[in-house]
Amino acid sequence: MNTPQTWHYGLVADWWAAFNTDGPEIDYFGRFVAEGQPALDAGCGTGRLLVPWLRAGYDVDGSDVSADMVARCRDRARAEGFDPTLLVQPLHELDPPRRYRTIVVCGVFGLGSTRAQDEEALRRLHGCLEPGGTLLLDNEVPYSSRSSVTAGRWSLWTSEGRQAVPEPWPPPGERERAPDGSELELRARVVEVDPLDQSFALELRADKWVDGEHVASEEHELTMRMYFRDELVLMLREAGFSEVDVRGGYHGEEPTADHEFLVYIASRSASPTSVHMPT
Ligand SMILES: C[S@@+](CC[C@H](N)C(=O)[O-])C[C@H]1O[C@@H](n2cnc3c(N)ncnc32)[C@H](O)[C@@H]1O
Repeated sequence: MNTPQTWHYGLVADWWAAFNTDGPEIDYFGRFVAEGQPALDAGCGTGRLLVPWLRAGYDVDGSDVSADMVARCRDRARAEGFDPTLLVQPLHELDPPRRYRTIVVCGVFGLGSTRAQDEEALRRLHGCLEPGGTLLLDNEVPYSSRSSVTAGRWSLWTSEGRQAVPEPWPPPGERERAPDGSELELRARVVEVDPLDQSFALELRADKWVDGEHVASEEHELTMRMYFRDELVLMLREAGFSEVDVRGGYHGEEPTADHEFLVYIASRSASPTSVHMPT
């Protein structure tokens, strides 16, 4: 698998552009960006973080594996008079035209990639930072119970739990109305769990209605790899980061077992002797 298996295309990209425009990550990571520019929003999606940062006057580029997400991000930015550098690149092939003081990876790490690609992604992220630069990477804990499509599915890691996989499709539920008046609905299910690989494979159905008439239906797939705190800290060190601090959630708290997301704040050594450029 060379191209990451992610579902952020077509109607799913429309969904993100229409509904995922807010959240505490914007201000939390934004404070680091304010202090360290230029910055890269790696896995920028439709610009949930990037567009408010452009509005704040920050010097920030974006990258994402999905050309559809990048196209919607560009539309959002241009609608506000901005023309940022946006690259269509997976994390493990990241090769931007400049180096950064800050790189933010929000809601991206472990999506669609192999473990080897994730390791390469961390090396690339390290290589794309200026000496003394900072990587901020969030990651949902494997045992999360609330936040995402895999939340509450920790029990599927056991051999008994895996008997319930593939899950049936959830029944149709609530449609969401987009700003253009169309309605969208997403439904997801787990189709494979591999505890050795620490990964889930999911399928997603997206449907669209205009004036009450069903006009489009799509199916997409996504894999997600889970990481534990100490494992990811070791991987970041292996990738070359000199210091790694871990915070709980998006308010800089000391991590506890109840935090659904951990934020890894990894520093590249200020010494230019450890310069490590992507190959
Ligand atoms: C959950 S969205 C988050 C988007 C944005 N960071 C935000 O917080 O609003 C995940 C994004 O990661 C992108 N993505 C998934 N796998 C990727 C990979 N291996 N390399 C780069 N981008 C990836 C998807 O295309 C999607 O835009």
